[in-house]
Amino acid sequence: MDIDITLNGTERTFEAQRSDSLLDLLRRNGYTGTKRGCDTGNCGFCTVAIDGEPALSCVKPVATIDGTEIETIESLGTQDDLHPVQEAFVDNAALQCGFCIPGMIMRSRSLLVENPDPTEKEIREALSGNLCRCTGYEKIIDAVQDAAGRMGEEGVAADGGLVRGEGE
Ligand code: FES
Ligand code: FES
Repeated sequence: MDIDITLNGTERTFEAQRSDSLLDLLRRNGYTGTKRGCDTGNCGFCTVAIDGEPALSCVKPVATIDGTEIETIESLGTQDDLHPVQEAFVDNAALQCGFCIPGMIMRSRSLLVENPDPTEKEIREALSGNLCRCTGYEKIIDAVQDAAGRMGEEGVAADGGLVRGEGE
C-alpha cells in the first residue's frame, strides 16, 4: 500500500505493508533518530508529532496516518544549529546514553508549544510516559525548564519552529 504523508515539511509517498507501524516506516526509510525501545507503547522512545500532537510511533498503524503531518527529531535542529530544546538538553547535561532523548525532546517540544511556561509538576506529568534508564530525570526536568525560557527568548512559532528574524 502507498502512504502519503507530509514528513518534516515535505510531501512524501512511502510504500508500506499493512502490518507496519509508523516507526517501522520511519526507520526503514532512514529516519533513525526515532528510537525503538519496547515496541509496545510503554517507553516513549519512539515519540514523534502527528498533526502537532505527540504520538507513539511504534503503536501507530501506518494505515491510520495517510494524509497526516508527521514530525520527527530530524525536523528540529542540526548538529551545528540546535533547536532551543536540544540546546537546553545539552547545556544541562540531561543525557547519558542518549537513547531516550529524541522521544524526550519531541515530547518536551510539544509540551512547550502548548504550555510555554509549565510548572515542574506539569513537566513531570507530560514526560511521565517517557522513560529514561540513565539520568534519574532531574536534569531532564531542569533542561525542559531551561528550554521554556530559551523558546520564549528566541520567538518560537506555534508549531515549535523558530520565528524568522527573532533570536537570530
Ligand atoms: S518504542 Fe514506542 S513506546 Fe517504546
Ligand atoms: S539517557 Fe540513557 S535512557 Fe535516557
